[in-house]
Amino acid sequence: MVLATRNTNHTCSLEKQTSTRMSSAAAVREVALRSGNARPMPAIGMGTAGMCNPLAPETTRDAVLAGLEVGFRHFDTASLYGSEQPLGEAVAEAVRRGLVVSREEVFITTKLWITRCHPHLVLQSLQESLQNLQVEYVDLYLIHFPVSLKPGTTAFPAKREDAMPFDFEGVWREMEECHRLGLAKAVGVSNFTTKHLDKILAAATVPPAVNQVELNPVRQQRKLRAYCAEKGIHIVAHSPLGGQQCSESERNAVLESEVLAEIAKARGKSIAQVALRWIYEQGASPIVKSFKKERLKENIEIFDWELNEDDLIKIGQIPQKKVVNTAEGIFSPEGEFTSVDLSDIEFVEE
Ligand SMILES: NC(=O)c1ccc[n+]([C@@H]2O[C@H](COP(=O)([O-])OP(=O)(O)OC[C@H]3O[C@@H](n4cnc5c(N)ncnc54)[C@H](OP(=O)(O)O)[C@@H]3O)[C@@H](O)[C@H]2O)c1
Repeated sequence: MVLATRNTNHTCSLEKQTSTRMSSAAAVREVALRSGNARPMPAIGMGTAGMCNPLAPETTRDAVLAGLEVGFRHFDTASLYGSEQPLGEAVAEAVRRGLVVSREEVFITTKLWITRCHPHLVLQSLQESLQNLQVEYVDLYLIHFPVSLKPGTTAFPAKREDAMPFDFEGVWREMEECHRLGLAKAVGVSNFTTKHLDKILAAATVPPAVNQVELNPVRQQRKLRAYCAEKGIHIVAHSPLGGQQCSESERNAVLESEVLAEIAKARGKSIAQVALRWIYEQGASPIVKSFKKERLKENIEIFDWELNEDDLIKIGQIPQKKVVNTAEGIFSPEGEFTSVDLSDIEFVEE
């Protein structure tokens, strides 16, 4: 029975466990990416996005330092988040303090924003990110969404008229150039469906190493996971705890799951740890955001225990949440799509 089967990817070829790294409590496992020449990726990363409100740079910087102190060595940012600069400052400060020996110990991912998804803007955008981060290279550079807006547009929600056809071949060629120049050790995509990945793979000389997508117990993405496993594309899970709630009335289907609460109680773990461990056991790597040191410490402690078969069956049966973050949500409801078919840029697959 598919849902009940433990996915052993986390111990098989794609997720080859290359080495371990000591955190405050348990060794953080690492994943060898199949494409590019990045150092092994720590199998859990810290997110730096303020999804509801932008986070103050000093808050981000201090939180990243706290993350480094408890053992995080993998950080996720994007030009959109405004967190590249404080992340870079925190890494430099960690080197000065001797928390890490050098920047090479840290795995940094950043992303190309949708207004820059045009071949002539890709390299320039990465160079700007490197400038913000004050590093010579990123470990992983991702196309943030399979959506392209007219260059220079700033309105959000975006105008429907500003959506442009996505030049998958041209943009990917420039991502490969970023890799060839040594500015991105590996390149990949985010929020891509199997349909978008087909187009990238048809054009690629260097295949995408990663697809970063929403993945958690209420958004299990089985079809996409099977596709990526077959193609050797590693899944990185954003919003592993159900994402950030921007208003009191929003419910968090992961952290409020009774099924997860029951398992957490039985295992003597937190709900967050159960969700993160489940993702890891599916062969994916969660990127989790908390700026609270106690939670950071809790979130990284998922490598020295296991869920049992019964837990996996129960989690496999959790009803899946209706997805509200769709491509249409990027755009204002007024106006018309004049240059694209919405179905071509939709990033929700099931
Ligand atoms: N590629 C993309 O399109 C995309 C989209 C979304 C996110 N991301 C990336 O993925 C990262 C993580 O996703 P996310 O920020 O959306 O959400 P998330 O990690 O699923 O959840 C974050 C929320 O959970 C809370 N939390 C964290 N640890 C907890 C714990 N142990 N117990 C209870 N609550 C806990 C946090 O609150 P506190 O902060 O108050 O602790 C925060 O409100 C982002 O920061 C970003 O780097 C990428």
